[in-house]
Amino acid sequence: MDKLGVRKNTYKTAFLAQKHGNPPISLFFTNASDTIPPMMRRKKKLKILITAGGTREYLDPVRFLSNASSGKMGYALARAALRAGHKVTLITAPTALRPPAGARVIPAVTSDQMFMATRTEFPRCDCLIMAAAVSDYKPARASATKLKKTGDPLTLRLKPTRDILAWAGRHKKKHQTLVGFALEDRRIKTSAEQKMNAKHLDLIVANAPAAIAADKSTIHLKTPSAPWQTWHHVSKNKAAAQIIKKVAAL
Ligand code: CTP
Repeated sequence: MDKLGVRKNTYKTAFLAQKHGNPPISLFFTNASDTIPPMMRRKKKLKILITAGGTREYLDPVRFLSNASSGKMGYALARAALRAGHKVTLITAPTALRPPAGARVIPAVTSDQMFMATRTEFPRCDCLIMAAAVSDYKPARASATKLKKTGDPLTLRLKPTRDILAWAGRHKKKHQTLVGFALEDRRIKTSAEQKMNAKHLDLIVANAPAAIAADKSTIHLKTPSAPWQTWHHVSKNKAAAQIIKKVAAL
């Protein structure tokens, strides 16, 4: 394990797994020693599945496509959910963050690994919160050996990844709730509402690219039956606590 508690060979196996099309998923538990004081526990305990971080799509054993997600929002949600007394499983792409104590943590490096972990865990949860920034595309072919430079231009052929949240929207049971995030640089609310409807979400949380890796941001929230709500310049910790409250009330 490295200092973040991630198994050392996770990234290597992710690359190999992507190459062979059958990603293995490893699982570990964080130390649950700081258990939640009983008076802070909610009566309605939910099993909340949270995804976090930006996935990586490997071109070769050492290079990958990814995004600027820090994982802060997903980790803040996991901490807030634990503090509220819920059970948390955190499926996490690589981040520089320490996994919250008490969460069941499943590392997933690629979008395929994140999909497989979510598909396994989803039937057991009451709520899925997809805070991860999942790559929309991956290389059509990953090279087994390090790509050499030739001096010529290089064209990458990409193919779409699976939309995990859309999959969950098609498979959710009546008792399950789905929360999605939307990162939009134009027409934030309109585009986010389209995503909420297309992916059958119970709550969408929308923000602008300025929110990436920031500690505070402005976020917009919508459920199918209520108007938009905006929280201006809130910290991710505060927003996370409020989102978890909303989720418990859905
Ligand atoms: N998402 C997902 N699987 C993907 C892409 C996105 O589960 N392959 C989820 C994200 O975790 C997020 C929601 O879908 O909760 C919206 O992600 P976003 O990147 O804003 O939108 P996309 O649906 O990918 O559409 P676009 O990038 O074109 O805006």
